[in-house]
Amino acid sequence: MTEKLIPIKYVVAETITELDEQEQKLIEQAKLAKEGSHAPYSNFNVGAALLMANGKIVQGSNQENAAYPIGLCAERTAISASVSLFPTEKVKTIAIVASSQNMEVPFPVAPCGICRQTLLETESKQRSNIRILLHGNNGTTFIFNSIKELLPLHFDAEYL
Ligand code: THU
Repeated sequence: MTEKLIPIKYVVAETITELDEQEQKLIEQAKLAKEGSHAPYSNFNVGAALLMANGKIVQGSNQENAAYPIGLCAERTAISASVSLFPTEKVKTIAIVASSQNMEVPFPVAPCGICRQTLLETESKQRSNIRILLHGNNGTTFIFNSIKELLPLHFDAEYL
């Protein structure tokens, strides 16, 4: 037997000013998107903003439902919207922010497993990486160059 280790690579920006203007704007758009969150069950509001290859920005927010399992995360709401609005356009970057009505959420929030899998499929389909900006309310941003960093032992649809 051999023990294996898969490292994941990400960059930590302590303040938003370390990011370029376009990415700062994308985080602001994610915060605006969060205002559309419908989360009466978890009181956890999430916003996502996608920067498309054509420069357009697509927003998404989590949309919960009384039938809990059909609730949608902000990331998948944004991805679905982007395919509807710009079906042939690649997603370059996604910014994600979150806050709770019940507690402080200082640190960046990471996407759930289903959203990671969805982003992996999008990357595979478009054959180019998606940058991921996880922005915390303490000002810190975690930057990943590909969803593969967040889903390191992946099955890549490129192999199909
Ligand atoms: N949620 C998101 O929208 N994105 C994430 O990255 C984490 C979780 C939502 C799902 C649910 O509506 C609420 O946050 C609590 O989990």
